[in-house]
Amino acid sequence: MSYPYQIQSLEAYHKAYRESVEDPETFWASVAGHFQWKKKWSRVLEWNFKEPRVEWFKDAKLNITENCIDRHLAEKGETPAIIWEPNNPQERTRIVTYNRLHKRVCQFAQVLKNNGVKKGDRVCIYMGMVPELAYAVLGCARIGAIHSVIFGGFSAQSIADRLQDAKAEFIVTCDGAYRGNKDIPLKAVIDDALIGNQTVKKVIVYTRTRTPVSMIKGRDLWWEDEMEHAEHQIEKEGKIEFPAEEMDAEDPLFILYTSGSTGKPKGVVHSSAGYMVWTNYTFVNTFQYQPGDIHFCTADIGWITGHSYILYGPLSDGATTLMFEGIPTWPDAGRFWEIVDKHQVNILYTAPTAIRSLMGFGLDPLKGKELSSLKILGTVGEPINVEAWNWYHEHVGKKRCPIVDTWWQTETGGCMITNLAGITPSKPGWATLPMPGVQPILVDENGKEVTEQDENGLWKGNLCIKAPWPSILRTTYGDHERCRLNYFSAYENLYFTGDGALKDENGFYRITGRVDDVLNVSGHRLGTAEIENAINMHAGVVESAVVGYPHDIKGQGVYAFVIYGHMHGDAESTRKDLLQTVSRIIGPIAKPDKIQFVSGLPKTRSGKIMRRILRKIAEGETGNLGDTTTLLDPGVVDEIRQGRI
Ligand code: PRX
Repeated sequence: MSYPYQIQSLEAYHKAYRESVEDPETFWASVAGHFQWKKKWSRVLEWNFKEPRVEWFKDAKLNITENCIDRHLAEKGETPAIIWEPNNPQERTRIVTYNRLHKRVCQFAQVLKNNGVKKGDRVCIYMGMVPELAYAVLGCARIGAIHSVIFGGFSAQSIADRLQDAKAEFIVTCDGAYRGNKDIPLKAVIDDALIGNQTVKKVIVYTRTRTPVSMIKGRDLWWEDEMEHAEHQIEKEGKIEFPAEEMDAEDPLFILYTSGSTGKPKGVVHSSAGYMVWTNYTFVNTFQYQPGDIHFCTADIGWITGHSYILYGPLSDGATTLMFEGIPTWPDAGRFWEIVDKHQVNILYTAPTAIRSLMGFGLDPLKGKELSSLKILGTVGEPINVEAWNWYHEHVGKKRCPIVDTWWQTETGGCMITNLAGITPSKPGWATLPMPGVQPILVDENGKEVTEQDENGLWKGNLCIKAPWPSILRTTYGDHERCRLNYFSAYENLYFTGDGALKDENGFYRITGRVDDVLNVSGHRLGTAEIENAINMHAGVVESAVVGYPHDIKGQGVYAFVIYGHMHGDAESTRKDLLQTVSRIIGPIAKPDKIQFVSGLPKTRSGKIMRRILRKIAEGETGNLGDTTTLLDPGVVDEIRQGRI
């Protein structure tokens, strides 16, 4: 589908931007007019950031799956919706047409119904990257259940916390998942997560790896049996019938847990209509999708990037989206390039950490790869360094493909600041201009707009957004006050992103990274407090402090300073024990890269840890650590500095 709102020139961008700011209601009503509604809205937008309360397309009724599937069937029934590439290149590729997707999603919605799932119920999905994951997500949306996908790298404890927070009653999982040469026993992790759980009634298990699993009577069901049964129920006189639930524009579509600077991860809630309009609008414009293009987003559906740019954005456009089960470096570091050639991929969207890791293998894995189908490249998740940008541009894009550097967050639902491929200018390392509808502002500590340029002629400050865009988060599940405190209380009447940014004289933005206690490790968000809590669970640990430090491949590495009571073995085995503990409590993705045992931590007289000092030490700063006179025991700083790993 190619929509009239696809921006096709720089002038058109400026015009759209101006209109979106001057009269957002007219602007978004015109975009939304191109979707399928069961009932039109009474008001386009109502909002205040104080509560916060944001309502887009008030009173409208819709179902996102009709927009992502049904409305394409007449023209594109036999067009591939999903191309699935397995982990192992020897295994067969699967092509899921829009007709097939429709059938499977209806079937799975029927399975959910048969098992008592109703509109508004929370369904936790913990699966590998198989097409059935897409059917599960969309099946939930079809029936109006709220999906909460959990990335396969999270531990049983993390899942247990999320299940409890969401009061989830249903789980969809796999026996196991393939990732590179590993076989991850997902069902066994779910079994551990369910020990002591009071809310979960049913677990549906899809067979992928044939890993032995224990199926609990009355609770656990096989996907295959359930789907077979549902197939007969939904086919009536050769037609597939599973009516899409009528959803209010503001009904929650999904919860996705993400880390913040305090406490446990919070469940970011996205709405049905606003999220649909924004993911579609940003997909069409950022990537300049043309009918027939093959779009390959390498993210996992366990993260927001996978939700928005493997599933909802592309499918709402009738596009062909490629879903990859494996990892970029297995069986070798040429896997992405092989997939690009095999499926004639036109748009490749990946993370700087993947690019840096592949750069490390040199140019050999690219030998013999054509990559001539590529038209557009994209990055997301963290700031991209100029070296990685240049490598991507030269060796992957062969200097012919524009690169979009897309800045956004779980909370924003879709791209916020990015160049539009080939339409608006790019600048290596800069996300550049805001999307129509996005009004960024840089503020100082007191919330005052930064008006003075620095010595390089740039404006520098904390990045906030002045007004709502359609897919701004609506709440944090079960705790609206937490949403207000986290995002809307730092600065009056502004949404605070938690990022710092620079702006140049062209109005281009460069995101410099988090200004709160959130780390970005390989594009994954982790709270320092969350990792500290996990370390502190270990029996011998007295106290710990975690900070980030620059890491060549991961962007940021995790550096933990740990006060340990009484060591039974040597430091090395204690270190391993701590890694094991973090893996158990959060998941392997949160394991510290460095652990330094210390006898004390730099604290102020009021007992506050001065992370600024620890950060400098972790970064390798040997000289000036700033003012240490307010410390309770300044001597501890020298000890820590000398013991730096
Ligand atoms: O710090 C920013 C960084 O990733 C954070 C959001 O993480 P998450 O919610 O996990 O979503 C990642 C995928 C959208 C942001 O606060 N970030 C994301 N994209 C960029 C970025 N930093 C710099 N440049 C980007 N393009």
